[in-house]
Amino acid sequence: MQDPISPRIIVALDYAEAQPALELVARLDPGLCRLKVGKELFTAAGPDLVRRLVDRGFDVFLDLKFHDIPHTVQKAVVAAASLGVWMVNVHALGGSEMLRAAREALESVDRPPKLIAVSLLTSMSQHDLEEIGIEKPVQQEVLDLTRLALDAGLDGMVCSAREAELLRREFGETPLLVTPGIRPQGSDRDDQQRIMTPAAALQAGSSYLVIGRPITRSEDPLASLRDIEQSLHG
Ligand code: C5P
Repeated sequence: MQDPISPRIIVALDYAEAQPALELVARLDPGLCRLKVGKELFTAAGPDLVRRLVDRGFDVFLDLKFHDIPHTVQKAVVAAASLGVWMVNVHALGGSEMLRAAREALESVDRPPKLIAVSLLTSMSQHDLEEIGIEKPVQQEVLDLTRLALDAGLDGMVCSAREAELLRREFGETPLLVTPGIRPQGSDRDDQQRIMTPAAALQAGSSYLVIGRPITRSEDPLASLRDIEQSLHG
């Protein structure tokens, strides 16, 4: 049966400039993956690059994690939508008014992008959170921020594959869960601390898998992408 939300793999284009990103993309297939453009590449190469990726037929996740006053985030989300991106994100820590402003901004947009939120950055330890006044256990904070975002009408969350199971239990099948920290069996874990294989992440409830270096640093990125895609159906 055809997977209804295929392709599930989002390749993270973590490059310092447009050229290597475009060279990599020329070797990929929009039928097999979507693309993620984050702060580094966007700051260096700007909206032109995003438009070029969209023109090449790829769904683009613009991972800029907006976090500002509601009015500014509203305008930023509209600007992102005008690039034709498929997905955009904001920080849930911006609060419910900011989240609703982002959601409402997309109501007047033709073919609006999916709008998702980041709860807590996984790089932050319990100690880091306490330093900024967040006293709750991490898991509770993630659940509360996810509830805030979903109640504001967002489509889903960025979360670790380890949180996906918990969020599915709590919030059901509808929210989109986008998970980084994915490593195929036997591949280098790089700087990722807690990893999961693509198939295990899907099993845990992930909707989309963000995968960077196992594909971007591969000698044959398309073959690596195909192998990972195959492993999802195994
Ligand atoms: O190369 P790798 O597969 O580790 O890339 C993962 C991508 O997901 C990077 O763009 C990274 O910034 C992003 N990410 C992450 N962990 C998070 C949130 C985002 O690795 N918690």
